[in-house]
Amino acid sequence: MEISTRAAQLSPSLTLSIDSKAKAMKAEGIDVCGFGAGEPDFDTPEHIKAAAIAALEAGFTKYTPSAGIPELRQAISEKLASDNQLNYRAAQIIVSNGAKHACYNAILATCQAGDEVIIPAPYWVSYPDMVRLAGADPVIVPTSERNSWKMRASDFENAMTPRTKMFEELQAITDVAAEEDIYILSDEIYEKLVYDDAMHVSIGSLSKEAYDLTITINGFSKSYAMTGWRLGYLAAPEAVAKAVDSIQSHTTSNPSSFSQHGALAALKGDQQPLADMREEFDMRRNYMFDRISKIPNITAVKPQGAFYVLVNISQLGLTSQNFADRLLSKANVAVIPGAAFGDDRTVRLSYATSIDVIKKGLDRFQDQHRRDQKRPGPFPGFLPDALAI
Ligand SMILES: Cc1ncc(COP(=O)(O)O)c(C=O)c1O
Repeated sequence: MEISTRAAQLSPSLTLSIDSKAKAMKAEGIDVCGFGAGEPDFDTPEHIKAAAIAALEAGFTKYTPSAGIPELRQAISEKLASDNQLNYRAAQIIVSNGAKHACYNAILATCQAGDEVIIPAPYWVSYPDMVRLAGADPVIVPTSERNSWKMRASDFENAMTPRTKMFEELQAITDVAAEEDIYILSDEIYEKLVYDDAMHVSIGSLSKEAYDLTITINGFSKSYAMTGWRLGYLAAPEAVAKAVDSIQSHTTSNPSSFSQHGALAALKGDQQPLADMREEFDMRRNYMFDRISKIPNITAVKPQGAFYVLVNISQLGLTSQNFADRLLSKANVAVIPGAAFGDDRTVRLSYATSIDVIKKGLDRFQDQHRRDQKRPGPFPGFLPDALAI
């Protein structure tokens, strides 16, 4: 059977090859330390589970309105006003099957063939392929460790063309976007996981111009440890929300009915579990960053949000895939190659795993690195046989 050009152009996930190797090793009984996780290792808080169970037991098992149940859309509207200084009416909010689905819906509703979407790299793995699926062209803008991996307004301006339709970035480069009427997709999924003095700011709250151009994305997966529940949402100007509602009504219909009651409990209920998870992530972040910053010939910027440390391995003379393959086969440590995120100078270590695994994995990482550094080579860290594994 012939595959459509739309599907054939998608790149296979680079994260999957490491992941399947790590899984195969685990199945053989090998003790692999996995730093690949893109989801909290905590369980969903009890009161959220209880609300979904109660909904199930009450027979809330049928279709709901495709944009989500009115009480959840209203609760999201209130959350956006109180947490984010964003005034969206419930009619401007569409609940979807995860923030990923909300992002894709937003791109489908606004971008088409001939449009360009600016995406700063390292990016979340799915953005470029979502843009391609919509028939538009991703324009990748590299960033640097020196600028904490953030896109500067000048990088953004240089990447702009008359075809630029949208950009995806959490930082405010809104003035430039507003001048040119470029839409902003603001993915705020890690909003609650910020550390030190960092404060989450919603781009749409910065000005009226920014609000009118922004589609705000958020969800329950990361903040409330609800990845499997598949619930996220977008808030947008009404015309976009209506278009997204139509798309969703013809493709997936509503997100899971009882999951929506869990999400309602998440927003309305006790927020302490969220603070506890954040505190635990913060402790692991400090530990992981301190250890990594003591290892010679690799560097990292202390992350201000989410649960990943991006390690710059460019001094080692290896591609990120070779580095990750080698670390897995020689030291039983799984990391994600940065090539998956559009930056081959880096690998990503997640601290969404227990402190014991973090300690053990970093011991192995460090030992392997020490052995490699002792090897003769033309420059530090060069591994002549690296490609031979
Ligand atoms: C930046 C970013 N946005 C969106 C998502 C998707 O979240 P959800 O589980 O709600 O689809 C992820 C998950 O990895 C993510 O890292």
